[in-house]
Amino acid sequence: MNTELFPPENWDLSPKPASASAISLTVPMELTDANLLGNVHGGAIMRLVDDAGGLAAMKHCGGPVVTAAMDEMTFLEPVYVGDVVTVKAMVNDSGRTSMEVGVRVEAENVTSGRRVHTSSAYLVYVALDREGKPRPVPPVVAESEEQQQRQREAKLRRQARLARKEAILQARARKGES
Ligand SMILES: CC(C)(COP(=O)(O)OP(=O)(O)OC[C@H]1O[C@@H](n2cnc3c(N)ncnc32)[C@H](O)[C@@H]1OP(=O)(O)O)[C@@H](O)C(=O)NCCC(=O)NCCS
Repeated sequence: MNTELFPPENWDLSPKPASASAISLTVPMELTDANLLGNVHGGAIMRLVDDAGGLAAMKHCGGPVVTAAMDEMTFLEPVYVGDVVTVKAMVNDSGRTSMEVGVRVEAENVTSGRRVHTSSAYLVYVALDREGKPRPVPPVVAESEEQQQRQREAKLRRQARLARKEAILQARARKGES
């Protein structure tokens, strides 16, 4: 385990602005990213989305995180080998130990200048302590109207995720499944 990821003192749990977690990765797509059709493989984009989302969550909580869930990932347009992909991520809201991160992907053809929004996704990360257990994270301060809207919508998605998980557990318990 890379212990340098952990702060020397206690966790800083003071509220943090959403904007402080913002991160942007810019990566040229190569032949090794291609699928059988010759376009960029969806999994290559998903990896970049998880990379950027995890970095935004780490910036917010100041330590290591794991991906707990990825949902609502859209693929709106194909991405081509040679495109330059920009992946932007920012924490939308936090729970006690988890954070929801919103990620937006854009692809640019640098010769034609064509730039398109290709994917969006919401991911949940959980912050871990030195023992690998979930630990508290700072609250998110949504400053702009746009960030406040994202925070409100993140709370609705959190309620839906937890309700779905609980409903599945109850249904399995009724059937005697694990
Ligand atoms: C994510 C993980 C740490 C949660 O462990 P757990 O025993 O369920 O922990 P808890 O019940 O205390 O939940 C911790 C947080 O995770 C959230 N969570 C757990 N399962 C979740 C799910 N399926 N979707 C969204 N959030 C989830 C809980 O809501 C809680 O958040 P909160 O404290 O903000 O309310 C655990 O499932 C795990 O280690 N998963 C594997 C992670 C991994 O390997 N990822 C891929 C590589 S990074």
